[in-house]
Amino acid sequence: MTDETARTVAVVGATGQVGQVVVRDADARGLAVRGVSRSVPADDDPRRAAGATYSAVDVLGAAQEPTVAALATAFEGADAVVLATNATAGDLDVYRTGTRRVVEAAGRAGVRRLVVLSIANVDQGTDYPYYAAHAEQNEIALAGPVPATVVRATQFHTFLAYVRSVPPARTLTRLGLLPYPRGTRFQTIDVRDVARLLVDATSDDGPARAVDVGGPQVRDAKDLVHAERAARGSRRVPVGVRVPGPVGTFFREGRNLVPDHHEGRITFDEWLRSGDGV
Ligand SMILES: NC(=O)c1ccc[n+]([C@@H]2O[C@H](COP(=O)([O-])OP(=O)(O)OC[C@H]3O[C@@H](n4cnc5c(N)ncnc54)[C@H](OP(=O)(O)O)[C@@H]3O)[C@@H](O)[C@H]2O)c1
Repeated sequence: MTDETARTVAVVGATGQVGQVVVRDADARGLAVRGVSRSVPADDDPRRAAGATYSAVDVLGAAQEPTVAALATAFEGADAVVLATNATAGDLDVYRTGTRRVVEAAGRAGVRRLVVLSIANVDQGTDYPYYAAHAEQNEIALAGPVPATVVRATQFHTFLAYVRSVPPARTLTRLGLLPYPRGTRFQTIDVRDVARLLVDATSDDGPARAVDVGGPQVRDAKDLVHAERAARGSRRVPVGVRVPGPVGTFFREGRNLVPDHHEGRITFDEWLRSGDGV
């Protein structure tokens, strides 16, 4: 039987929405945790877990070898690496170059498992550049020297709030409305469930694999936004907005759903009640 407390996990993207919960989950299980991100959170930063250590490495550092060497140092002695970085539209290379470097460094450091956070059915949406980069990331990880588990999650419970913060919905949000993606359904999952599944996957010891994981329920975006409005006592008026481009088509065609997968346990309503909502 594996002694869980003897294991060490490194988390790249340790200060992120998911990464910080991965760090807390692994820490709570008694694992030794090393967080990696571009900047080290201060001692009083709420994203910081008391039991973890942190180091600063930019996976897109200007020079290849020093970046891989810095990552390999951060991974030294780790049994598994969890990769939970994120890219904005301008730096999709985080998924390509960044992942290649993490993969190489993990191999160099003798890591036994690489766990990568990705998006459910992302390979069915590659006409959207963000998804194309993520799909390429998955292939890089699965072909690398360290056996990988790619965990492809459905949209998080926080996703509708994110949609409201970016064009074309942002303008309506600023006007005091509550825009949501019209004609779409989501199977949202709580980041605490995603973190749990990622930490579970660090114990995988079989061949490389990709798994889809989904939230407990499939619901209309309209229904979700009305639930959110009621939970917050908001008087803002919900308004359906057509999401343009390939990602809009991806959602309207339901390619974001994995109805055979309900690994997430915390429902959208429970998330709203937990006060963890945005
Ligand atoms: N939102 C959803 O519904 C959803 C659903 C399924 C999957 N996902 C995927 O989940 C992943 C994580 O998302 P998230 O929302 O947790 O991301 P996030 O909150 O933006 O966090 C990203 C993390 O990566 C770090 N990072 C970014 N660039 C870096 C670099 N060049 N070098 C080192 N560290 C870097 C950030 O820290 P610093 O900025 O300090 O470096 C931060 O710790 C993404 O790949 C996303 O596509 C999202």
